[in-house]
This record gives sequence, C-alpha cells and structure tokens, in this order.
Amino acid sequence: MHRIQVGLIGYGTVGSGVIQFLNRRKNFIKNRFHTEFVLKTLCDRSLQNKNTTGLEKTYLTSNFQEVLDDPKIDVVIELIGGMDIAKKIVAGALKRGKHVITANKELIANNGKELFQLAKKYKAQLYFESSVGAGIPIIKTITEGIVGNKFSSLYGIINGTCNFILTEMTQHNRTFTEALQEAQKRGFAEGDPTLDINGMDSTHKLAILVYLAFGKFIKVNEIYTEGITQISHDDIEHAESLNLTIKLLAIAKRVNNDIEARVHPTLISKDHPLASINNIYNAIYLYAEPLGDLLISGQGAGQMTAASGVVSDLINFATKEPKSKLLCNLFDEATHLKVRKIDQIKTKFYIRFMATDKPGVLSKITGILGKHGISINSVTQKAHNPTLAVPVVMLTDYATEKMLRLALRQIQSLSIVKSKPVAIRMEKLW
Ligand code: HSE
Repeated sequence: MHRIQVGLIGYGTVGSGVIQFLNRRKNFIKNRFHTEFVLKTLCDRSLQNKNTTGLEKTYLTSNFQEVLDDPKIDVVIELIGGMDIAKKIVAGALKRGKHVITANKELIANNGKELFQLAKKYKAQLYFESSVGAGIPIIKTITEGIVGNKFSSLYGIINGTCNFILTEMTQHNRTFTEALQEAQKRGFAEGDPTLDINGMDSTHKLAILVYLAFGKFIKVNEIYTEGITQISHDDIEHAESLNLTIKLLAIAKRVNNDIEARVHPTLISKDHPLASINNIYNAIYLYAEPLGDLLISGQGAGQMTAASGVVSDLINFATKEPKSKLLCNLFDEATHLKVRKIDQIKTKFYIRFMATDKPGVLSKITGILGKHGISINSVTQKAHNPTLAVPVVMLTDYATEKMLRLALRQIQSLSIVKSKPVAIRMEKLW
C-alpha cells in the first residue's frame, strides 16, 4: 500500500468537502490504486470555530509554517484562496520539494509562471484542476484529453454565480439583488461576491485556460473585463424576443499571432448549446484543429464538485508516472503571441437607445453609425409613445469597439436620445 501524507491548509467549504470525499471513497482508492491518503496535518487560522470531530488522528494547527516544515508531508493542499498568504504557502511548499494541489484561480492566474518555474526547479508537481470549473475536468481535457490539437477558440461560462443570477433574472424575473443573495445563501458565490459579479473571477479562470490552450501567460489586466451589474430586465426581454440570450462569456481566440481574451456579457443565439447552460452550471465550448468542437459542462461551483477536482489531482499525483505529469512542464512559452487590445476587436453589437418617438429620429442615429462605418442589420421599435422616450433596439454588423464607442458618444449627445445607450457584444459561435 502506497501511503501519502497530506497537509491540508484551509478548512472551509472546499477543505471540509475534500476530507468528506476522501472518507467516502477511501476503500475504492485503496482497492483501485493501492494508495492511502493520510491527513497528517490540518491547518486553519480559525480552527477553534470549526468542527474537527473525526480528525483525532490528525495534527491540528493554525500555523501553516508547520505544514511546510514537516519533512514527512508529501503533498500540500492549499485551499485558503486569495493571494499573499496562499502564495507564501504554495511557493514555500514547492521550494521544499513538496507537491502542491490548489484550487486558487487568482493565484495561478497572477503567479502561474513563477510557480511553474519553481515547481520545475525543485522537481515538485503543481496541480490546479479545481481552479477552473471546479470538478469539470477542463484542465485535464486541454492538457491531456485533446492535447495533440491546435486550439483556436474557447468560450466559457465559468462563473456559477453570474450564470445563476442571469438565469434567475431571465427565467424567474428576479431582481439582480435577490438572485445574488440566493447565490450567496447557497454557498457558491465567493465570500466577497465582488469578484464574481464584476467578472474578475471569470478573468482569472480565463487567464489559466489561455495559458493552457495557447501556451501564453497573459496578464490579468490584459483581459478586457466587464461584469453583469449593468444588465437590465429590459435588455433580457429584448434579447429574448430576438431569439438571443445573455451570458457572461469568457472568450479567447487565436488569430494568427494575436490572442483575443475578454470577459463580458454576450448575446448568443438561443439555438446554441451554450444558451441552455443555466443556473450554477459552467461550460466550456472550444474549437481545436483537427478535432473540431467540444462542449464540456457540469456544476462549476459548490463543495463536492470542487472537492472532486482536488481529489482527482491527488489521485493523479499519486498514481501517474512522473513523465506524464504534464502541468508544470508546460512553461515553454509562446512569447510571439500578442494580446489584441479591445479597441481593435471586431464584434457585432446589440444597441438599445431610449429615444423620442418622432419622425427623423432613426435617421439621425443611423446617420452617425453610418459615418463611423457601422452597418445595421436590424432595427426594432415596439413601443410607440409621442410623449415619452421609447426603446429602439439595433443589431449591427461587425464593427470595431473603437468605432462603436465613438459613435455612441456622439449619439448620446443628441437631444433626442434620453439616456446612455446600452451596447452588448454578440458572438456567433460555431
Ligand atoms: N464563485 C465561483 C463561481 C466559485 O461562482 O463560479 C467557483 O470558482
């Protein structure tokens, strides 16, 4: 029997889930892999408030240094999240030749390159399957399952909280605040949900996927990010009537030596499979040559799904030949790839204006769009009211972000336009 001594740091929702998961699957793991994971040390800074029943054989501490300094510990699982202390833990463990498993997307997105280099230098392994999509094996899919392919595009619904909020607003007419509170109550929003709703959680995950798929470490601040806080019921309803739905998409494309990487609310056709990924489900839809397209989906947030990814890392670490432990060997960077600035990116747009309802209004708006080289594919105005502003919805053809912004600024200054125009990017997926 192969006994592996584990040091677990962070006894929150995911940490306690990992312990429960390992207990539930203990016999299976022993029989199938001849391996036993022994929880040697559990570290948490507020252990006094936690239930540690059943952990009598485990050494409990609130000092992570004790885990790092224990020569008997083979693998450290970091589940505290955040940046500073988590980085000390992960880097400290690697420097001592300990293998590390983490679910920390923010850390890998910001410090992946440095940590991979440390792992290589100290001949340690670094696993992070749960950092993107929790238990959905997207990292393994990209780095092993379909590894021989050339990746050309990737579209992810990779924040369960945002997807849940948009689904609740669309299907149950709930307000943004009600839906967010429900996501927090169910435990899949982050402690501070700001990173969920402002899009940054998706951005961290996208940075990791871009690296794995395209071989380029891009900085988090190179990814254009827009969250879902500005999405209104009005736009959801207009989208529905156009057979479109709004999703917070994390998008990465490779066009020759350029990479597009962005996170923003996106209108997609309701006929595309991603449109039916709802609630806390995550999905990644990608296109690779010569494979073609692939959609992988599952619960992207929650205790057991995150624990499942961590346990799969543990088993992979314990059972694979060193030469097939791919993740940390992936740092040969494709430095020739450049990130395209958002100004230069072309998409189609949904635009909604609140405009006065009288002759000549449309021609003023379309005139400005035309002057900026923006072609209009359709115009819808359902309400008619000569005394109030009414919504006018336009779908444009492909236009650069720069031109659209210039045009909208000019349109907003017209006296016939009564509020800031809304613009939502559209994607035509394969
Ligand atoms: N807060 C994250 C989400 C959890 O809502 O998707 C998983 O990273």
